[in-house]
Amino acid sequence: MNIRCARVDDLMSMQNANLMCLPENYQMKYYFYHALSWPQLSYIAEDHKGNVVGYVLAKMEDEGSGDEPHGHITSLAVKRSYRRLGLANKMMDQTARAMVETYNAKFVSLHVRVSNRAALNLYKNTLKFEIVDTEPK
Ligand code: ACO
Repeated sequence: MNIRCARVDDLMSMQNANLMCLPENYQMKYYFYHALSWPQLSYIAEDHKGNVVGYVLAKMEDEGSGDEPHGHITSLAVKRSYRRLGLANKMMDQTARAMVETYNAKFVSLHVRVSNRAALNLYKNTLKFEIVDTEPK
């Protein structure tokens, strides 16, 4: 298994993985927006044949939001048969590192459903994210 920075020619595979794994889906132009605006921040995991088995789609928050510079995880997923191998953990680590090194990010934000036990465990217990707010519904 290999983890590397996502390229434009990975975007369709990332969208495909997203459709398989999550109910929050995005148009292709939103993937391009990420890849062209913040080319250092999104990562993929690939198997030995080069098939994309997981991705993290990430960006910096828009300037002028008043906050310190910070990154945002738009979407993260690992295909079912490749889970619990540490891939999500490693991709998140790479992304966070790139946010700090390239954009001087001070923190990273994301949204996750309270019902998403696996992802919450990853964010809270493994990656030490703090819960700032819980939005109704
Ligand atoms: N149950 C409990 N804890 C889990 C689970 C699980 N099913 N999966 C991961 N974790 C926690 C564990 O603490 C794990 O460490 P351990 O294996 O040493 O116990 C830690 O997270 C790291 O796990 P990884 O192997 O790095 O995670 P994985 O590669 O399996 O990917 C992910 C986790 C991305 C949540 C995966 O289950 C997935 O794709 N789920 C469907 C899509 C999804 O929910 N994405 C996140 C939505 S939020 C967003 O996109 C911002």
